[in-house]
Amino acid sequence: MTTPDQYAVMGNPIAHSKSPRIHALFAAQTGQHLEYRAILVEPGGFTAAVRAFRAAGGKGLNVTVPFKRDAWVFADLSSARAERAGAVNTLILEPGGARGDNTDGAGLVRDLTANHGYRLAGQRVLLLGAGGAARGVLQPLLMEKPAQLVVANRTADKALELALRFSDLGRVSASGFAELAGRQFDLIVNATAAGLDDAVPALPDGALAPGGWCYDLMYGDEPTAFVRWGREQGAAQSLDGLGMLVEQAAESFHLWRGVWPETGPVIAALRDR
Ligand code: ATR
Repeated sequence: MTTPDQYAVMGNPIAHSKSPRIHALFAAQTGQHLEYRAILVEPGGFTAAVRAFRAAGGKGLNVTVPFKRDAWVFADLSSARAERAGAVNTLILEPGGARGDNTDGAGLVRDLTANHGYRLAGQRVLLLGAGGAARGVLQPLLMEKPAQLVVANRTADKALELALRFSDLGRVSASGFAELAGRQFDLIVNATAAGLDDAVPALPDGALAPGGWCYDLMYGDEPTAFVRWGREQGAAQSLDGLGMLVEQAAESFHLWRGVWPETGPVIAALRDR
């Protein structure tokens, strides 16, 4: 029996990552001979850790907080969407060098559209947050041609900076939270870190249009603060980011192995736990 191809996710913290389980399920399902583990990397140690992994025969990596920018710097060549985000969550390690991609936004869009039947075209979309998570999903969201995409952030200047960076790709504008008063959106996507404190961004009442949807990039065993907020606002659907997590993993798996795993059973297995 040959040694399985080696893959891993690098981050800090990493102990609770679901990626090893997701990729093990993908591999079993598609008959791919590979191993995937989680590697804790100390601050400042990313490049050395990737070099060591590659030297030991590693074929590919997922990269999570706080190293997505380091991974973008490390990559010899990045996809257009990763270049635009300035962040890489997938590295393909080849003899000639490292290719970088960012599958986060595609994962979000696939979860919304393929798994939940949402049509982004023509919708009024509000994206909350202007950090790394927001930057990673903007291009794929804009590619779906929403009627408008407003980036709103606690620090409004950062939203403006982000909107300008993506302004050639579609109708994107910027706002603070308070200035949203009186406006309504069909879809509100939370890409802030507020949920880490079990909090939600301070949105004016009525920001969610009747029948609108909410989507939190975060997920947890219990409904997140933003998912609960969406329910309170009467959202037709208030979704957490578990589906996105599995979909971005499927995109990475396809980049590495050339086959698409079925994500439905894997999402169901993770929900079950
Ligand atoms: P990430 O990589 O998760 O995006 P980040 O780059 O540190 O992390 O960005 C965190 C984002 O969450 C920022 O948009 C931040 O807003 P500020 O730019 O104003 O700091 C946002 N954020 C964090 N806590 C928040 C809170 N309690 N309410 C609203 N936004 C919050």
